[in-house]
Amino acid sequence: MVVMITGASRGIGFETALYFARLDNTEIFALSRNQAGLGQLASECAGLNKSSQVHPLVYDLDLFAENPDSLLKRLPVTVSHIDILINNAGVLINKPFLETDLDEIQRLFYTNCFAPALLIRHLMPFLGGKTVSHVVNISSMGGFQNSMKFPGLAYYSASKAALACLTECLSEELKDSKVVFNCLALGAVQTEMLEEAFPGYKAPLKASEMAEFIGHFARTAHKQMRGKIIPVSLTNP
Ligand SMILES: NC(=O)c1ccc[n+]([C@@H]2O[C@H](COP(=O)([O-])OP(=O)(O)OC[C@H]3O[C@@H](n4cnc5c(N)ncnc54)[C@H](OP(=O)(O)O)[C@@H]3O)[C@@H](O)[C@H]2O)c1
Repeated sequence: MVVMITGASRGIGFETALYFARLDNTEIFALSRNQAGLGQLASECAGLNKSSQVHPLVYDLDLFAENPDSLLKRLPVTVSHIDILINNAGVLINKPFLETDLDEIQRLFYTNCFAPALLIRHLMPFLGGKTVSHVVNISSMGGFQNSMKFPGLAYYSASKAALACLTECLSEELKDSKVVFNCLALGAVQTEMLEEAFPGYKAPLKASEMAEFIGHFARTAHKQMRGKIIPVSLTNP
């Protein structure tokens, strides 16, 4: 099985990569900007399961639109199919709506929605075809319809809502491609991002506990559902 996980240098993405590294015969492409975090991931994964391997991809998704080949050319020629793509990388800027500038708005929407969209588009030659691929987009309860909303997170939440809607749209438009798209709208998980959004708040879930759910969902749920936005939340926050 070949898996690509974005945002794997820390938090939920890091733990999700560890989840896959414990399985048999799994190649994991773990992407993020932070070399040290990915190095830590590679060393923690080494020895978990000798038949599996982590390939760190130090890469800034915010540069993907300008030069998609800069990422695609780094995939080994032996990789012709990606079974699971988890668009987990995300950014949060906790700032009042009236004080957020255009650069910050663009950054939030680019990393949280445009980059996953472009990644899917350019990875389509590796997705679906003869075998099903499952694309799991990681959204937030903040971007889930009728959920509780919080001051300071308007653009973050809107960018996550856009990713959720994109999931439904792609599921329809690309339904003949053997790519199944689903979206998980996560509730509170104890990570550095949560600490930035809600300083001092203690979430009921650890990143490893959420990763367990995401990993199992990514491996199995394409058989039961497509184009769905699923709330995965004990609290918010
Ligand atoms: N924690 C929660 O309570 C919660 C709740 C709802 C939704 N979520 C969502 O779950 C996902 C993971 O969240 P988390 O809490 O684990 O966040 P986190 O600890 O802040 O980790 C975010 C990851 O995204 C990567 N990333 C950010 N910008 C990137 C870029 N331009 N290019 C490549 N990688 C980039 C970061 O790596 P580098 O900095 O190394 O690039 C990091 O590995 C996010 O999409 C978040 O919105 C989290």
